[in-house]
Amino acid sequence: MTPSLPPLRDQLLHPSGGLVYHLRALRHRHGLWRGFHQTVAGWLDAWQPARRRLVLVGPNAGHALPGGFLARFDEVVALEPDPLARWWLARRPDATRLRFLAADCLGTPDGLAGLASAFPDAAVLFSNVLGQLPAPEATWSALLNQHLAGQPWASYHDVASTERPPQCTTPVTLAGKDDLESTLARFWQGGTLTVNDHETFRLGGRGPFSYVPWQLAPGRWQLVEWTARSAPPPAQA
Ligand SMILES: C[S@@+](CC[C@H](N)C(=O)[O-])C[C@H]1O[C@@H](n2cnc3c(N)ncnc32)[C@H](O)[C@@H]1O
Repeated sequence: MTPSLPPLRDQLLHPSGGLVYHLRALRHRHGLWRGFHQTVAGWLDAWQPARRRLVLVGPNAGHALPGGFLARFDEVVALEPDPLARWWLARRPDATRLRFLAADCLGTPDGLAGLASAFPDAAVLFSNVLGQLPAPEATWSALLNQHLAGQPWASYHDVASTERPPQCTTPVTLAGKDDLESTLARFWQGGTLTVNDHETFRLGGRGPFSYVPWQLAPGRWQLVEWTARSAPPPAQA
């Protein structure tokens, strides 16, 4: 039986988004967030899934999405619970083929299965959301590998957060064999590092993975990971 997607309820004060996130975006987009957004733009530019439809999960107002990105697709379906973020995203010049779907693919163990069966022809982009929410069962990696193996998907997500500033903020790409400690040590060297583990490290389990530190706010740093998975080639007739 095809799992149906539960409704996505409006949330203006979601801890991972909401009004605080909008105020931070307005305050920091030309300063603290600029380098991170440039890195995300590079990741998205290099991601060219062979699909005309995009499902965008957790885009917020698209603060991190470079101008023109939405216009790369014939249709963009966005799943975003924040009504202010939806209003803002819909006003982007590249949002002419954007529509919203009030369906929650992240809250239940078969949510990603429901997403895959509703949009089998789409590429899926998780837009800094998987590191914000606990996986409803097992891990996000297990759920992605189980339910989205048949289509291209990509994600950028927090893997760790800390109050300590890194010594290095240059993005790196790794094959996928390093553990979290040695990956963190590329950016934070020496001393004691206390981190909050977002349980998304090496998402999906297969590299390469790219990393960059992001200063979310004064005294708040995230290590963000990017990974993209292509779909298996279509079966020969
Ligand atoms: C940290 S923000 C990321 C915002 C934006 N993508 C960016 O990179 O700047 C996480 C976003 O996920 C959204 N979100 C939370 N739960 C969600 C769900 N179940 N489905 C889709 N989006 C969700 C929040 O409303 C918020 O906009």
